[in-house]
Amino acid sequence: MKKEKEETNIKNSSLITHRSSLLIKGGRVIDPSSNLDEITDILIENGKITKIGKIQDSTLKQVQGKTQSSGLRDLDVIDAKGKVVVPGLIDMHVHLREPGYEYKETIKTGTEAARAGGFTVVCCMPNTNPVNDSRSVTEFILDRTIKEGSTDVYPIGAISKGLKGEELSEMADLVEAGCVAFSDDGKSVMDSELMRRAMEYAIALGVPIISHCEDTNLSKGGVMNEGFVSTELGLQGIPDSAEEVIISRDLLLAEITGVKLHIAHVSTKGSVRLIKEAKERGIGVTAETCPHYFLLTDNEVRGYDSDAKVNPPLRTEEDIEAIKQGLKDGTIDVIATDHAPHNIAEKLVEFDYAPFGIVGLETALSLSLKLVEWGVLTINELIEKMTANPARILGLKKGILNVGSDADVTIIDMNQKVTVDPMKFRSKGRNTPFKGAKLKGLPIITILRGKT
Ligand code: DOR
Repeated sequence: MKKEKEETNIKNSSLITHRSSLLIKGGRVIDPSSNLDEITDILIENGKITKIGKIQDSTLKQVQGKTQSSGLRDLDVIDAKGKVVVPGLIDMHVHLREPGYEYKETIKTGTEAARAGGFTVVCCMPNTNPVNDSRSVTEFILDRTIKEGSTDVYPIGAISKGLKGEELSEMADLVEAGCVAFSDDGKSVMDSELMRRAMEYAIALGVPIISHCEDTNLSKGGVMNEGFVSTELGLQGIPDSAEEVIISRDLLLAEITGVKLHIAHVSTKGSVRLIKEAKERGIGVTAETCPHYFLLTDNEVRGYDSDAKVNPPLRTEEDIEAIKQGLKDGTIDVIATDHAPHNIAEKLVEFDYAPFGIVGLETALSLSLKLVEWGVLTINELIEKMTANPARILGLKKGILNVGSDADVTIIDMNQKVTVDPMKFRSKGRNTPFKGAKLKGLPIITILRGKT
């Protein structure tokens, strides 16, 4: 069933395949899935990669001849000298908000933002209105993507109907319609029995469960990290244990059931430790974090800036160090954005009343390159966490540069400097605590199935 669904998405997406030929010349080509890291060329024909390696003039002439005789456009050449060429980035945790919250984001604006950020694939969370707990919503998202999308979109179905945590969604139907995983993200599944059954169905359907880990009894009323800063500011805190209690439970359930469990947005030192130990014990768990969790602390909240209000909350230096270590030693497999756009007016209220969420699609790569600058990760390890690893977790034939694979390619200028200006975002969301940040390294061209 899984295989069929993948093919459905790929078939649908082929509607926007570019039919001419493209040569990416002389870039540093990095493909973590095949340990490739060399200065070379990539030839793309009809939306697929047809050659990786030094392209001789004779091959070029042949390609030019082919494109002209078949009435296609001539060969385009991108001079990638001095640039880094990687598989199209994959963001496995995005809120596209459509259907229902189009005033925050749409599939059109969200995927435009993704494309600008170097992504060719995004996975969208089900907390829309209606919730993506039924085939018709999944089909709507895929249909809208074909019509208006700038990237591929793989929907994530709800674990529970209406995200209420009471009754399972029609999981088999959702997978058949095109969902690649299940999550109640934004909400925690507090009923352990329901979570266990969801895991059992997920195994049968061959997809992972993505867990938003938050014990809502412990986090109730909290608006930021519980600690010195929350005490000083007089704001109610969310303790680390709110995340860690549910991670512990889900790790136990994953051990019992054998499900592929993926922990969303890891934010605490204790979570990293729990996941590391579980991996060492052979539990099938993977994990993601987001740039704000390895770059910012709860000090960001000091000005009561609601753009720094996110769930789970920004934590402390100690947590940042543990997350960096977790990224380095492989405990954390993926960097995702948890792109959570909100309307400006919604965030322009007292801190207590503002919604949780930070936008991330247009800053993720530049922010994550900090890890390379600091020597936490090599560029190859970083790209792996944004391409091959999420593809492997979700079973997507993406995130690779292979002859025959979709020509999804991102070209990065490692030296380009950028100042984050939310008013220039393609996303409708402007809610980022990184406004004004000066960063280095930017995706300059994002190619989806051969189309720049
Ligand atoms: O900050 C967040 N915002 N965390 C979530 O888990 C959900 C998200 C949203 O949907 O706004």
